[in-house]
Amino acid sequence: MPMEKRFFLETFGCQMNVVDSERIVDLLQGIGYGQVAEPADADLILLNTCAVRDKAERKVYGHLGRYKPLKDENPALILGIGGCVAQQEGEKLLTKLPYLDLVFGTHNVHKLPEMVRAVENNRVRCHETEFLDRETRLQLFPTRTFADTVTRFVTVMQGCDNFCSYCVVPHVRGREISRPSAEILHEVRQLAASGVREVTLIGQNVNSYGCKGENEMSFARLLAEVDGIEGIERIRFTTSHPKDLSDELIDCFGSLKKLCNHIHLPVQSGADRILNLMNRGYTREQYLAKVLRLQTVCPDIRLTSDIIVGFPGETEEDFAATLSLMEQVRYADVFSFIYSPRPGTAAAGLPDTLNPAVRQVRFDRLLTQQEEISRSWREADQGRVFEVLVEGESRQGNGQIFGRTTWNRIVNFEGDRSLAGSLVPVRISRVYRNSHLGKLVEN
Ligand code: 5AD
Ligand code: SF4
Repeated sequence: MPMEKRFFLETFGCQMNVVDSERIVDLLQGIGYGQVAEPADADLILLNTCAVRDKAERKVYGHLGRYKPLKDENPALILGIGGCVAQQEGEKLLTKLPYLDLVFGTHNVHKLPEMVRAVENNRVRCHETEFLDRETRLQLFPTRTFADTVTRFVTVMQGCDNFCSYCVVPHVRGREISRPSAEILHEVRQLAASGVREVTLIGQNVNSYGCKGENEMSFARLLAEVDGIEGIERIRFTTSHPKDLSDELIDCFGSLKKLCNHIHLPVQSGADRILNLMNRGYTREQYLAKVLRLQTVCPDIRLTSDIIVGFPGETEEDFAATLSLMEQVRYADVFSFIYSPRPGTAAAGLPDTLNPAVRQVRFDRLLTQQEEISRSWREADQGRVFEVLVEGESRQGNGQIFGRTTWNRIVNFEGDRSLAGSLVPVRISRVYRNSHLGKLVEN
């Protein structure tokens, strides 16, 4: 019997890449490759990459550099890169990195088996970074109707048409496309039958689902349909663009039982001048009005956000507006990023005179302010009992199990693994920075 070939896959970035990586695993297994946990054991090493910020991109080159010695030792080793950096750089990567064998873009995951075969058989180096037409993309939506996990991502749309001026996503993921609702609902039903209890509907901008007139239902309607599927206990969705957050969708937080009381609603900046330069399509006031409506229909809701610090030309006054918006909304958590110019984006062409030290100081101030707010949210949970959806054994490896609250906070506690998939009451006994410790409430 020939020995099975082995691959090592490393995934960077967002949920889109996580889902694409699952597809990569399926495809490679289909051509006789088994997955391994150590790059040194592999015949094929693939990186699924992220280009959203320069730091993420540099990390990819750093990791690739680490695999080069393996290739020096074993010239038969195949090294490939996919995802957003591959899409952005394309064939140039093969010129820049002579030890690289293959480059596949964000629309070309399905070509991987044939590319791997071509490299294996002929030792050619190849690249595929063409964007596909709509029809072909609709055929190729990532799908999986069986899962052995309690929670699962389900892709409802891909790509983005917003062209926020700082963002590389529309350039590397292509135009927005929504998947037919019947297919999504079929997938969720199958997943529920295989034991999945929570689905997160994902897309770059899920609430513009169907907005291009290509689908028969709104995102709010789709959520209501998922809410009616037996076996599914919880629903989440991400990411939401504030400008496309309709009243109909906001009202779902009041009317749909299974929809979790959490929304990630990236604001990016609290200053109208900057929001306008970012091409975000809303003002501070419009954003805050949506937050108020969310809090009105669902008083228990918690929000999280993304914020960019030091956008070109950001003044001290603009930055103060961001801090004051954060004070006003009181996000449970904020993911903050120092602005990073991205190739091909409109903002990369703006005059930028901000000095890096100023950006860093603002970033640190923002973190300090938010940490106070996040801490007060965490501490408010102390001693209270929450319904937790148990996912399985705790990642801390101490024999505990873990699950999440409706706000997506991890809770570790003593309990039997057979509780996986159940909603159980847990009293919070200690709060840490990244998770809670709790005790199962026996009844
Ligand atoms: N620089 C800094 N942060 C960025 N983000 C996207 N593009 C950039 C950039 N060029 C952030 C945004 C987005 C998150 C995923 O990454 O806040 O919501
Ligand atoms: Fe990027 Fe804006 Fe699209 Fe989000 S909505 S992916 S920030 S362009």
